[in-house]
Amino acid sequence: MKLSVIGLGKLGSPLAAVLASKGYEVIGVDLNSDFVKKINEGRAPVDEPQLQNLITEHRTRLKATLSYQEAVLASDVTFVIVPTPSEKNGLFSNKYLLQSVEEIGRAIALKNTYHLVVITSTVTPGSCQGEIRETLEKASQREVGSNLGLCYNPEFIALGTVVCNMLYPDMILVGESDKQAGDLLETIYRQCSENTPPVRRMNLINAEITKISVNTYVTTKISYANMLSDICQHLPGSDVNVVTDAIGLDSRIGSKYLKAAVAFGGPCFPRDNVALAALANKLGARADIAIATQAINQHQNLRLLHLIEKLDNGGPIGILGLSYKPGTYVVEESQGVALANRLSSQGKKVSVFDPMALNEAKKVLNQNVEICASTFECVESADLLVILIPWPEFAKEIQMETFRKKATKASVIDCWRVLNEAAFSEVCHLIYLGVGSEVENKSLTPLTV
Ligand SMILES: NC(=O)c1ccc[n+]([C@@H]2O[C@H](COP(=O)([O-])OP(=O)(O)OC[C@H]3O[C@@H](n4cnc5c(N)ncnc54)[C@H](O)[C@@H]3O)[C@@H](O)[C@H]2O)c1
Repeated sequence: MKLSVIGLGKLGSPLAAVLASKGYEVIGVDLNSDFVKKINEGRAPVDEPQLQNLITEHRTRLKATLSYQEAVLASDVTFVIVPTPSEKNGLFSNKYLLQSVEEIGRAIALKNTYHLVVITSTVTPGSCQGEIRETLEKASQREVGSNLGLCYNPEFIALGTVVCNMLYPDMILVGESDKQAGDLLETIYRQCSENTPPVRRMNLINAEITKISVNTYVTTKISYANMLSDICQHLPGSDVNVVTDAIGLDSRIGSKYLKAAVAFGGPCFPRDNVALAALANKLGARADIAIATQAINQHQNLRLLHLIEKLDNGGPIGILGLSYKPGTYVVEESQGVALANRLSSQGKKVSVFDPMALNEAKKVLNQNVEICASTFECVESADLLVILIPWPEFAKEIQMETFRKKATKASVIDCWRVLNEAAFSEVCHLIYLGVGSEVENKSLTPLTV
């Protein structure tokens, strides 16, 4: 069985490489000729741990082309992982997906064997059975059924661990047009997983709503922890980490993603909540939890700004961490970028550093934000330092000595508690979020959700 993968970006190129590593002949397609060239030269088109190794090891089974026809005619199954940007109303746009499916359909019309089309992009529930199926059937001049299969099969991955998540998935979700299509996709996944994950097979629409529900539930846990952090910060004597650590031990709850710090960001989490709320609204249903999760998330930025305003002595402010989380260069919905731009547009002197995301951040940062060359430079230049993302480098590279040498005692807002409290409290004014104090209690006004 031969496979094709349409869209060789952050998700598509790791999938193509994982499939090739499990013995499949894979041909990728992208509009971006640079990505196609890179794959054909054995180079990873995107930066993702383990991706380059997989491509190097399994190069003979992996190639790429700009031609849909070439890829579809050379394969039996086509995975589609093109962008589905959010529309103004919050729902996902199928614009690129439909263009892609139409091209695939036209190529399928030129062959006479069975072909399976697998949609992996995140879509608004109802898309696959609706306009995607219609477009595919029209372009291929076939009906979905015995000669043409359609599946919805999202990946549950996190950037920075995409390859690992694909090799050891918690579950495989298969939305299927019919049994033949689902059987074929399950066979591929059974061969690709290093573990034996449970497989859930269902109709297309159930799989679509399951995908969004997973992400929105995870973000609800994050917002719950951040809500507790806000309360604890106003409650002298309390500490949110002590509380969430204990809550997480209850097996009904679990500790994963129950950690208070800053607002969640990135290309998926914020928009999935918005999409769930928009879907409910469109259907005449309610998604109050999704709306509250998003409102609590936005409030975290306000909390941080309040704290910065209180600690600001008019001197330079340093921000460490511009990616939306450690281990990635992605700055979509990055709290660090938003904070730097906000403060610099208020006329404050802001300097920033990130171990991996500086090139991406430069494209979206205000011009007057100063880019530092190292953690040290950012710490050294700041009267007020915000450690926004817990890159492991920061814990190693931030030296007490740098604070000792400062003429005035610096303040440090350590959002993820990367610095040792006992040690660093001696050399700077160290603030952990979610720790109650009399001062916070008097001055912060919580946002009503
Ligand atoms: N990145 C993630 O963490 C993640 C996680 C889960 C789901 N998703 C979903 O996967 C989809 C893709 O996300 P991504 O992060 O890989 O996007 P990306 O922007 O990194 O990659 C998309 C690729 O598709 C290519 N492309 C665009 N239109 C095309 C077309 N018509 N034909 C061929 N190629 C085309 C682009 O050139 C790009 O290389 C989105 O729906 C996203 O919501 C992403």
